[in-house]
Amino acid sequence: MAAQILDGKSLAALVRAGVKARVERLSQRGIRPGLGVILAGDDPASRVYVRNKQRACEETGVHSKLFGFDASVSETQLLQRLEALNSDPAIHGILVQLPLPRHIDAARVLEAVSPAKDIDGFHAANLGALLAGAPRFVPCTPAGVMRLLEHAGVPLAGRRAVVIGRSNIVGKPLALLLLQKDATVTICHSKSVNLGSITREAEILVAAAGRAKLVTADMVKPGACVIDVGVNRGADGKLAGDVDFDAVKAVAGWITPVPGGVGPMTIAMLLENCLHAAENESAT
Ligand code: GUN
Repeated sequence: MAAQILDGKSLAALVRAGVKARVERLSQRGIRPGLGVILAGDDPASRVYVRNKQRACEETGVHSKLFGFDASVSETQLLQRLEALNSDPAIHGILVQLPLPRHIDAARVLEAVSPAKDIDGFHAANLGALLAGAPRFVPCTPAGVMRLLEHAGVPLAGRRAVVIGRSNIVGKPLALLLLQKDATVTICHSKSVNLGSITREAEILVAAAGRAKLVTADMVKPGACVIDVGVNRGADGKLAGDVDFDAVKAVAGWITPVPGGVGPMTIAMLLENCLHAAENESAT
């Protein structure tokens, strides 16, 4: 039987509708959630991501302001902009689009975002809170994956989960979130030996390696839930995930498409985080 398709596009629309209603309620108290976006350099994919995030803000009534910088921007300039955003009462959430130009120390820039406005959840204080089991802002892509799993009713407790990819943005936080739901979690990466023998044990398999068609049908346990976080652009210009979708959907129990799976959920979680930041601020 073919896998059930996990439709991130429609779930994200549902989440955005919820955000919009709550933004309206906040506005009755005179508060409009505000997002400050920093985009440095001219990475075409980053431009598209930022445009999509700003469009989603507009749709839900979140005010967003873009600060664009040339690739030659200095670290000091970025730090100064962050300082201004940290103390701007109209800005509740701050987003530094990655990757930053190579001469910039990205870790130092991310640490300069106020943890209370860090809606990407990349600051060490927020990653630490997640590690300690008391998450504040959870990185958006892992949060989106968890929401998709929850919405589809995929059982996690006691199940084998394998995450391919160990980035601070996706792989590591997602492994922690799955662990929090009592899954038995393994993280694989580029040095893992005999990847297929590990992935075949997975009841939940997440591919976040950034390699097109890395996960083939023979690497998937029949009936498994396969989540594709990959966004790779092929020679034909088309988007492709890390999973060989057509072959794997014949084996898996659930599967996310690319596009239309995890991607829209990332943006929806960003909006929710921004709303939480504004609500927290208004409660203090
Ligand atoms: N670059 C790729 N993914 C992300 C993300 O989720 N947030 C930010 N800020 N940059 C990214």
